[in-house]
Amino acid sequence: MYKEFDKRVDEILAKLTLKQKIGQLNQIQQPLNVEQAELVKKWIKEGLVGSIIQAGTSTAGNDGQDGVRVDEFNEFQRIAVEESDSGIPLIFGRDVIHGHHTVMPIPLAGAAAFNPEITEKAYRCVAKEAAADNIHWTFSPMMDICTDPRWGRMVEGVGEDPYLASRVAEATIKGFQGDDLSDENSLAACAKHYLGYGFSEGGRDYHRTEISDYTLYNKVLPPFRASVAAGVATVMSSFNDINGQPVTSSKKYLTDILRGKLGFEGFVVTDWATVSRLVNQGVCENVRDSAKAAINAGVDMDMVSKTFMNELESLVLSGEVSEDIIDEAVRRVLRIKIAKGLFERPYCAEREIDMQEHIAVSREFAAESMVLLKNNGVLPLKNEGTVALAGPMLRAKRELLGTWVLDGKADIAPSFLEAFSSVAGENIKIITDKGSTVLDDSLAPFYNSDVIVLALGESHEVTGEARSVADISISKSQVELAKWAKSLGKKTVGVLFCGRPLALSEIEPYLDGILCAWHCGTETATAAAEILFGDRVPCGKTPVTFPRCTGQIPIYYNSTVAITGVCSYYGQAAERSYCDMLGTPLYPFGFGLSYTKFNISAISCNKTEIPLADIKNGESFVFSVDVANVGEFDGKETVQLYIHDKISSIMRPVRELKGFKKVLIKKGETANIEFNIGKTHLGFYGNNGEYLLEKGEFDIFVGGNCLTNNKITVKVI
Ligand code: GLC
Repeated sequence: MYKEFDKRVDEILAKLTLKQKIGQLNQIQQPLNVEQAELVKKWIKEGLVGSIIQAGTSTAGNDGQDGVRVDEFNEFQRIAVEESDSGIPLIFGRDVIHGHHTVMPIPLAGAAAFNPEITEKAYRCVAKEAAADNIHWTFSPMMDICTDPRWGRMVEGVGEDPYLASRVAEATIKGFQGDDLSDENSLAACAKHYLGYGFSEGGRDYHRTEISDYTLYNKVLPPFRASVAAGVATVMSSFNDINGQPVTSSKKYLTDILRGKLGFEGFVVTDWATVSRLVNQGVCENVRDSAKAAINAGVDMDMVSKTFMNELESLVLSGEVSEDIIDEAVRRVLRIKIAKGLFERPYCAEREIDMQEHIAVSREFAAESMVLLKNNGVLPLKNEGTVALAGPMLRAKRELLGTWVLDGKADIAPSFLEAFSSVAGENIKIITDKGSTVLDDSLAPFYNSDVIVLALGESHEVTGEARSVADISISKSQVELAKWAKSLGKKTVGVLFCGRPLALSEIEPYLDGILCAWHCGTETATAAAEILFGDRVPCGKTPVTFPRCTGQIPIYYNSTVAITGVCSYYGQAAERSYCDMLGTPLYPFGFGLSYTKFNISAISCNKTEIPLADIKNGESFVFSVDVANVGEFDGKETVQLYIHDKISSIMRPVRELKGFKKVLIKKGETANIEFNIGKTHLGFYGNNGEYLLEKGEFDIFVGGNCLTNNKITVKVI
């Protein structure tokens, strides 16, 4: 894919000095003051810089960031192109994670849409806005499989399932990179964090991970494999170690697997200063050793630690690092700079972007992402009568954008109070609390309401990098508020603005309806209000399991069975996984209600058995179901297909998502949904990363979530 540029790379490489080559492997942080800016310009002119990251701090996702400085970066580029000896353009990177000025749903919410089409469309809008601000490269998508919602960064990922994560990663990369990476509206994407960061022990950020190769190949790697196949331009090496081996100094992970097995041809950038931090991890005595370890492992670009800049030249001159290794790293960086079109168009031209279109896409994406978790008939709301609004998130605005928002315009994001008021019809009377977050006499008028809607959840500031929590329960004060509202004998609805699956067991009994609205960006509140009034029909599905309590973590759907029923799949057996808590989750993976009702027929298939040799030659089972909309609303259903490999050489999960289709079905109508399931679905990876296809029986499940018992059994003979 990117090797096609090697002829041109050879021509450039042949003219570079060692110092200039090493310059291409050095990414520096944007200058924070005039003195730093002068030093940066000097380095650029001397050919010591290949990239600048537009980030004011190492935790850009949480700290306020200065806006992008288009003109200043054009000046940096002018110096690189017109004043440095090599004339190689710089590549500018920024954390454009789930939006730029228009903010899209946090990636975890986006995954809940189960909709690659809207995902791609949304990230195309994001790329257009960011590229117009002189950004060439984004450090997104993040695809760290995670089953521990205590981890603050679950918010940035795509949940617990490798198949869903792979489809979302492909769509996001296609949105960012477009059909032509050199297009002025395209961004080079970055598959991160390679590898296994989502398995941080205890959900504690930056912590160690223990991942078997079997889990690595079957759960952690698939989204990266899909990203490489989708042409992702870059990959970011992660902070963590795997079983004591830091990824940033691992030839196994960065070269043998990423390049050898996955065939990645772009370049690897480290996460923030991870080269120099190999000393912190105790595998390198000093930064000179770190530079040597990282470059030999397969790191191409050093993010902001300046370890490559300071140490590599002497390592090559002393013969401790081969210049061939340097050349290959420079080759991979230059491939992407050429593919991005930076040599032909190094400067960012001023251009207007129509954000209105993007805001409309953000609203559509948000609505597709929201998950109706409970509804005992209270929703959709009648557009008449008196509605009481309260709750800690009722007037929130910045919080609804979510974490990792560097350039989002919070002022254009309505609060839930504003959006609800503008969406409600003239026959609705709205009463609100007086902004207190505790029960006080300002709530007295609520006695006169017909329904109480509570804006609940968590701030974006307890999600994201370095924002893990020890308890995922929704706060006690919010439980008390819901309990009080219910005590009035009113129908109560909870709208949950959150960045992770909160534990809702304590509040759930007091709510007649629960809409998980996540932190869905600019249009969170409007999309949620439109759903509450039935202007839009909810259609999101949970991309992660919702535990009943923190103590159940880790709990995920694609687990292997236990040897006895006590701890069986999701605790389905009568016995309990715990003495003090049910073993089942509060809401399972792939779950979400609609305002209408779908009946999914029994599964039919073209054949009940296929020889293994024919499967290996590309023959597939074809499964189909009829999905009837038997309710009162047109609606979308996400029909999911799971497999269970019943007898295999290594234990396989009792359910594995291997297909999903989201379809709009008008009320009273029926749709036929088909799935082709063949060798890429029925096999698995052994401990050495070899792909195994075995004979045997497979249970196939097709339904509206992972607990469906709509099953057919087929055989590979
Ligand atoms: C941060 C994050 C990474 C981000 C990078 C640049 O520490 O781990 O996701 O892209 O540094 O800000």
